[in-house]
Amino acid sequence: MTEPTIPQLFDLTGKVVLLTGAAGHLGSAFARALAEAGAQVIAASRDRDRARSFAASLPAVAAGPHGGVALDHLDETSLNTGFAAAVQHAGKVDILVNNGHDADGHDLTNVTAEQFNRQLANATGYFLLARKFHDHVTSRAGRGSIVLIGSMYGLVGSYPDAYEGVCAASPVHYHTLKGGLVQMTRHLAVYWAKDGIRVNLLSPGPFPSAKAPAEMVRRLEAKSPMHRMGQPHELKGALVFLASDASSYVTGQNLVVDGGWTTW
Ligand SMILES: NC(=O)c1ccc[n+]([C@@H]2O[C@H](COP(=O)([O-])OP(=O)(O)OC[C@H]3O[C@@H](n4cnc5c(N)ncnc54)[C@H](OP(=O)(O)O)[C@@H]3O)[C@@H](O)[C@H]2O)c1
Repeated sequence: MTEPTIPQLFDLTGKVVLLTGAAGHLGSAFARALAEAGAQVIAASRDRDRARSFAASLPAVAAGPHGGVALDHLDETSLNTGFAAAVQHAGKVDILVNNGHDADGHDLTNVTAEQFNRQLANATGYFLLARKFHDHVTSRAGRGSIVLIGSMYGLVGSYPDAYEGVCAASPVHYHTLKGGLVQMTRHLAVYWAKDGIRVNLLSPGPFPSAKAPAEMVRRLEAKSPMHRMGQPHELKGALVFLASDASSYVTGQNLVVDGGWTTW
C-alpha cells in the first residue's frame, strides 16, 4: 500500500456529511470546515428554509450542491424524515456530526423534572440518529465516521465563580447530558468498529457567542490557562481530523479543545 500523504488523509472530496445544528455559532464553522475539506454538506436545522439558505452560503464542492434538511433531535419522526431527505439529496451519507443542542437555561436551584428529562432527550436523539446512520452505512457495505459534540462540562464540574451574581449556573442537566455522551461514544465505538464505523466525541471548552454575558466571559477568561476564550475556527482542524481518514485508527475517543481548561 502506498503511504497516504497528509493532504490525502484530510481530504473529504467525495464524502457526504450530515451536520445537525449547522447554522449555529459552532455549527457554521464546522460546516465551512467540512466544505473547505471537500465534503458535500447536508446542513440540518429545525427550520428547513434556514438550513437551505445556510447551505447555499458554503464554499462549492465538485460532488454537487450542498443541501439543507429539517431535523429535530427531540422528535424521532423528524430524525427519520431528515435523514431520508439527506440521502435523497446526495445519494448517501458517509459522515454524521451530531452538533445540534436543545438548550435549557435553568440551573440546579430551579430546573423541573420535565426540563431535566427534555435535556437528556438530546442524548436519545443523538443515539437514534447515529443508529440510523449506522444502518445506512452497513446496508451499503460502506465505512463511516460519527462525531458527537460534547463539552468540557461533560468532563469537569462547573466553575461557580463565573456565574455567581451574573447569571444562572451552568445547568446541572447539561453536565449530565454531556458526561453521558462520553460513555455513549465508547459504547457505540466498541460495537460498531467491526462494521467499519468510527465514533468519536469532540469536546469544546469555552467558546461563548456574542450573546454571552460580558462579566461571565471576563471571569472565564481569568480562570482559563490561556486567559482567553476559543474562537469557532479553532475547532475546525479537530473536526476534520475526526471526520476524515486522518483519524482512521481512532475510535471511542474524546478530543478536548479547551485552551487547557480541563488540565488544571
Ligand atoms: N459554544 C460553546 O461554548 C460550547 C461549549 C461546549 C460545547 N458546545 C456544544 O456545541 C454545540 C453547538 O453549540 P453552539 O454554541 O453552536 O450553540 P448554538 O449556536 O445555539 O447552536 C446549536 C444549534 O442547535 C440547533 N438545535 C436546537 N434545538 C435543536 C433540536 N431540538 N434538534 C436539533 N437541533 C437543535 C439550533 O439550530 P436550529 O435553530 O437551526 O434548529 C442551534 O443553531 C452544542 O452541542 C453545544 O452543547 C458549545
